[in-house]
Parts: sequence; C-alpha cells; structure tokens
Amino acid sequence: MSESNGTRPIKGELLHEGKAKRVFKTDHSDRYIQEFKNDATAFDGTKKGTIEGKGSVNCQVSTRMFRLLESKGVKTHFVDILSDNEMSILPVKIIKVEVVVRNIAAGSLVKVRGFKEGTKLDPTIVEWYLKDDSLHDPLLNDDHIHALGLANSHELANLKKDALKINGILSEFFASIGINLVDFKLEFGRRPDGKIILADEISPDTCRLWDRETGNKLDKDRFRFDLGNVEDAYQEILKRTSAIR
Ligand code: TMP
Ligand code: ASP
Repeated sequence: MSESNGTRPIKGELLHEGKAKRVFKTDHSDRYIQEFKNDATAFDGTKKGTIEGKGSVNCQVSTRMFRLLESKGVKTHFVDILSDNEMSILPVKIIKVEVVVRNIAAGSLVKVRGFKEGTKLDPTIVEWYLKDDSLHDPLLNDDHIHALGLANSHELANLKKDALKINGILSEFFASIGINLVDFKLEFGRRPDGKIILADEISPDTCRLWDRETGNKLDKDRFRFDLGNVEDAYQEILKRTSAIR
C-alpha cells in the first residue's frame, strides 16, 4: 500500500508513547502514525541513553523488512513511510505476547538457559514472553497464554507458523547481505475485524545481527553491553539493507 495518491494522513492526538516509539491518531480513521525515537533503553528500561540517528535507521530498516515480508505474503501493519522516522500503519490492538525466534544461541538463552553462545540451534526455538516491563517480561508457556486470555490455541499455532515463515524470509535476506540473523522479537496485533497481523518494528533494536565473516555485532547489544561504535553499527545495517530498496 502507498499513501502517495493524496491520502497522506495528518498526525493527530498522541495515543501511546513507548520506550522507542510514539503512536499517533490521524485524520484518517484507519491509519495511525508510528514515530521512531533515538531514545534507547535496556534491561526493562533501567539503562537509558540515546543513539544518534536510531529513529531514522529503525524506521527505514523496518520499512524495508515489512515490504519484503508483504511481497512474500505476510500481512503487516505497515502502510507507507512518511518521513525519515515516521510510517503510517494500520491500527491494531497489540497482543501482549512478545514472540522471540532464535537461530543461534545468544542473550538470555546463554545467560539463564545454559546454552553456549554461538551454538546453532536445531530446531529453531520460538518463545513467548509477556509484554510487561513491571514483571520483567517473563517467559510464558502456551497454557499461561490461554489462561491469561491473551490468545487461543488456534491463534498461537498460527503465530508460531507465521514467526517461522518470517524467520525463513528474513534469514535468507540477511544471509544475502553477509549477516547472520541470530534471533529477533516480533509483536502481533489484532485488527478491528479480529484478524491478526505483524506489527511493531523489525530493526537492530529488535534483532541480533552478526557479521558472517567477522562475527561483529551490528545491533542493540552494542548499546546494552557498552561495546562501542553503536551508531556505526546501526548505519551499517541501514547501508546493507538498502539492497532491497
Ligand atoms: P533475549 O536473548 O534478551 O531474550 O532477547 C531475544 C531477542 O529479542 C533479541 O533479538 C533482542 C530482542 N528483544 C527485544 O526486542 N526486546 C526486549 O525487551 C528483549 C528483552 C529482547
Ligand atoms: N527494550 C527493552 C528495555 O528497554 C529491553 C532490551 O531491548 O534489551 O527494557
């Protein structure tokens, strides 16, 4: 979809401000605007900072990823990119389950589940986390999700199928630009008619991206763990993902 035919929505009331994005209503009842910020947080918001240019990189990279996924039949909330750091999106009610897909062991899999960093995972691991910083986004199983009324078993089975399909598409694309897609987090939302579509963002904030040759980390772990050259890593991902423009 494109807003280029004179239907560009006009920003209205601020609906929601998250740690990395703001969502606005617009003059169009079936459009919101998602604005990406340079603010960076980690560890449930306890570490705070700014990454210069991040809002712009994440908006553009997410645009490219959503367009790629749409071209392969994945329904997303993305409508159009409006500026460097703003996109128009379809309104959804976010499902409070963060879907994490892992191809290679890293992060919490190493810290709390006994995996060795860098181990290739077979099978690919799909995990559910409750989207609630005040509870530190705890790991959930299917029964927790059903009992909390967050999604039914049919919806959960589809979320897993969609997450694995998205993983196949993104892994192949990142491999083509010399990057291993180590793991990533997705959020889905419900449209007014109940249909579930991919929402939120896909960016160096929400993915672990390792250079295939050097193993260099090109993602938010540089900020989380003070690895230096944070801005350079984001710009490198912006540059390499331009391959699908
Ligand atoms: P983890 O290894 O810390 O559990 O993170 C798994 C993936 O999810 C990783 O790509 C980073 C991403 N992620 C988020 O996008 N938001 C979060 O709040 C957390 C904890 C991880
Ligand atoms: N975004 C999360 C936070 O601010 C965690 C993370 O990405 O590491 O707490």
